[in-house]
Amino acid sequence: MNQQGMKELAGTGVVDALVKSGMKLGLGTGSTAIHATRRIGSFVAAGKLTGIRAFATSFQTVLECEKWGIPLYSLNAPELGGKLDLCIDGADEIDTENRLVKGGGGALLMEKLAAYASASYAIVADETKLVENLGLAFPVPIEVIPEARLPVSMALEKLGAEVFLREAVRKAGPVITEHGNLLLDIRFKDRIDPARLEAEINHIPGVVENGFFTRIRPTVFISHGDGKLEVRK
Ligand code: A5P
Repeated sequence: MNQQGMKELAGTGVVDALVKSGMKLGLGTGSTAIHATRRIGSFVAAGKLTGIRAFATSFQTVLECEKWGIPLYSLNAPELGGKLDLCIDGADEIDTENRLVKGGGGALLMEKLAAYASASYAIVADETKLVENLGLAFPVPIEVIPEARLPVSMALEKLGAEVFLREAVRKAGPVITEHGNLLLDIRFKDRIDPARLEAEINHIPGVVENGFFTRIRPTVFISHGDGKLEVRK
């Protein structure tokens, strides 16, 4: 099975295992989570899932929900009341304790809001996302307000990170997030403590959020090349 097939297997498998009518759902972003949204959408359109209320973590997800008629709400709307039953999302790295790096698609802020507002959390990923230690290979994104770009970069370097401003593709200059901010992608050379860094980075003035997700441990649905879907708690 190729990587595209593995993404689809994880994204559809989680829906079949966990999603029920009447749920308040957080819907994640990326090329794996989109398969979950698509499956939920096809069930909603066919009338097999009813009473779903969803919060979308990015514009990509909003568009997919609109395509299928999945009812969307703000987290502040009375229909959600700031709480979700289940959040389904992808990840860039997953360590042996199910801690995550997320935000490769630039949606980390809404993704963290959804994850931390949800009673249960499921991550969908193919086996290439499994790592021993976070932050060494895939860059960890930090969302910063534009005015804070340089001071935050210097503070991150003091923490031992290499810092790169994320550049846009097919637009000159940096990526601007859906909240009007910049993304600094950071990478470490030596093993780090992701839980400590998640808290410490958010204390730097001008940082809006960072891509370490360590405070809740998701159930992880990992698809393998041999067609097996492993569920890791
Ligand atoms: C989006 O900002 C990310 O957190 C994604 O969930 C993550 O990058 C995984 O994306 P893929 O499933 O496309 O690899």
